[in-house]
Amino acid sequence: MFQKDRFIETCKAVVGEGQKAIREAVLEAVANPAEVISELGVPDQAGVYPLYQAEDLTVINFIWAPYMTLLPHNHNMFAVIGIYGGREDNMFWRRLDDPGGPGLEAAGADSLGVGQAVTMGPDIVHSVANPIRKLTCALHVYGGDFFHPPRPRIQWDHETLLEEPWDMNNTHKVFRQADMRFKAGVAAGAED
Ligand SMILES: [Fe+2]
Repeated sequence: MFQKDRFIETCKAVVGEGQKAIREAVLEAVANPAEVISELGVPDQAGVYPLYQAEDLTVINFIWAPYMTLLPHNHNMFAVIGIYGGREDNMFWRRLDDPGGPGLEAAGADSLGVGQAVTMGPDIVHSVANPIRKLTCALHVYGGDFFHPPRPRIQWDHETLLEEPWDMNNTHKVFRQADMRFKAGVAAGAED
């Protein structure tokens, strides 16, 4: 059975081994999505829900609203993302060295369904989209303190691709606004 505390203990035990060991733990967890939902609850609100936070490890339950996106950003620590409900599309970006110009160009993508995981090294830049009309549920495990990274994180404006300092408050706002649009759509009968 998936148990939140046991999962966190496993991550704490293996984080020193690196992203490959964390990936195995995440894949094992999302291999039983019904158990994860049973333990963490049936999602009904988009948001960023920390489950564990320490200097060397952060575990977060991400609930993505339908059709929402999150702008390109880096982590400055490795990350493993596993999906236990819905679908999470990740777009990967290459940084450009062009003063005054866009700071990124598209470099690749990975679409994650239930039971799948992606591993990202510390320098990866990605943006995220939930491409479906349901909430998407993910476990994100980071090899550091996601909320207090050792080096300042960067985000890029989604329209201009210009670099700006990472803003966690803005991230929370993006989730709040996406959840409001989701709830308004349900109230209007636009969603199932
Ligand atoms: Fe990210």
